[in-house]
Amino acid sequence: MPDALKLAFGPFVAPARGVLFVFCDDGLKFGAATTRALGAAADLVTRAAKAERFTGKSGSSLGLSAPAGLKVDRLVVIGAGKPADLQQYDFVKLGGAAVGKLPVSASEATIFAELPGGAMRADRVADLAQGAKLAAYAFDRYKTKRKEDERPPASRKVTVAAGDPAAARSAFAAREAVADGALWARDLVNEPANVLYPEEFARRTGALKKLGVAVEVLDVARMRKLGMNALLGVGQGSAHDSRVVVMRWNGGRKGEAPVAFIGKGVCFDTGGISIKSAAGMEDMKGDMAGAACVTGLMHALAARKARVNAVGAIGLVENMPDGKAQRPGDIVKSMSGQTIEIINTDAEGRLVLGDVIWYAAQRFKPKFMVDLATLTGAIMVALGHEYAGMFANNDQLAERLSKAGQATGERVWRMPLGKEYDKMIDSKFADMKNTGGSRHAGAITAAQFIKRFVDDKTPWAHLDIAGTGFDSPQSEINKSWGSGWGVRLLDRLVADYYER
Ligand code: BES
Ligand code: MN
Ligand code: ZN
Repeated sequence: MPDALKLAFGPFVAPARGVLFVFCDDGLKFGAATTRALGAAADLVTRAAKAERFTGKSGSSLGLSAPAGLKVDRLVVIGAGKPADLQQYDFVKLGGAAVGKLPVSASEATIFAELPGGAMRADRVADLAQGAKLAAYAFDRYKTKRKEDERPPASRKVTVAAGDPAAARSAFAAREAVADGALWARDLVNEPANVLYPEEFARRTGALKKLGVAVEVLDVARMRKLGMNALLGVGQGSAHDSRVVVMRWNGGRKGEAPVAFIGKGVCFDTGGISIKSAAGMEDMKGDMAGAACVTGLMHALAARKARVNAVGAIGLVENMPDGKAQRPGDIVKSMSGQTIEIINTDAEGRLVLGDVIWYAAQRFKPKFMVDLATLTGAIMVALGHEYAGMFANNDQLAERLSKAGQATGERVWRMPLGKEYDKMIDSKFADMKNTGGSRHAGAITAAQFIKRFVDDKTPWAHLDIAGTGFDSPQSEINKSWGSGWGVRLLDRLVADYYER
């Protein structure tokens, strides 16, 4: 796992070098420790703020190089707006905002975790540190020719100054586990498909074993025995064999039913015989973002020793056109026994999910299931990149996901299901077809397809993350193409509602 940022916690001591970050409110007020550290430079800040019309509004900042009266190379004042309004996620963003203002060349920084009202609470300091860690991520392992001034230092040290550094450090442990899971998910999404194909993805999940996660890999022969022909049909045109990976973390009560997460892992989606057009096709290396999220989540839960039984199951395939590839018009029998007429080989994600969801439900009888998939372009037409589409057969689960989304900034918007939409995927020749045959309600007909592999008694939610899994707008905590979206959301869902 990349670890370009070394985070440490210490007391409020004015640093002798590097970059110093401090926070003020929208009245340009500082906390007592910050004021002490600024000393004579406080006057400089007031004058610079006036000159730059900096008022401390949330999201704004003021930078001063070689500030007279301070030993540091640079001072950055970050506006926190009205501190009383700050929610947990705002602290994560403050940490991200600081790292975002770190000059490329800087190797050392100190963040004063203090607001005008006093030192931030230890859990808030830990949130801030999590944001710093998330924001420091860059996927640059294939850049070999950067010029001297574009090259970041090999490692960066960020010290978070806090009222109770030991308490902050211990609160950070769980946040770090979750951040590491999200960064791992970003790595998986960013990797190109010549490097990360199904077998290699499966191999990488093996890293979870040292955290106590049981990892099982199903190969093609095993899947054939199980009857996963919908999934296997998608992968049959690829030189790379398909895989299913089942990851189990048992941190809960012995024998208690697990919660289950299922991910679409199309390592590359050409569309198959219904081939996509060339423009932007390279983005389809990210069509495994659902599987990456599930993998990152399993890391998060295990690394923070979540008191829950959780299963992650991912379907890994590559969708290629080939002499062996499946054709439009083909009919496959899924593991559930239901038959599917393939109308469009580019509607492949639902075929993969149908079998993996069915398998996970039969084998584990989970308390609930959440699947994640970069499933449809239609969800981006509906929601853009701000919300993932959520479809659910259970109001309580939907409500909990919405709340967790608000709290983490990984937001979901509930979309409808209904029998009128379901009818759109009835087939002339088989039990169902794999598209609605029209672009209308494309994200909904995709969800209806998946719903046919879920029994109504199991609470289930489907998250269409086509707009949020990769290439979403940069935020304070993510500058990377692969976003790692969903790890923080689902960790939160588990923490708030399902840990004993
Ligand atoms: N992986 C794509 C959806 C996608 C597109 C995700 C762009 C992220 C960015 C999916 O497999 C797909 O091709 N969906 C089709 C479905 C259609 C053929 C019914 C789509 O959305 O066009
Ligand atoms: Mn497709
Ligand atoms: Zn796809």
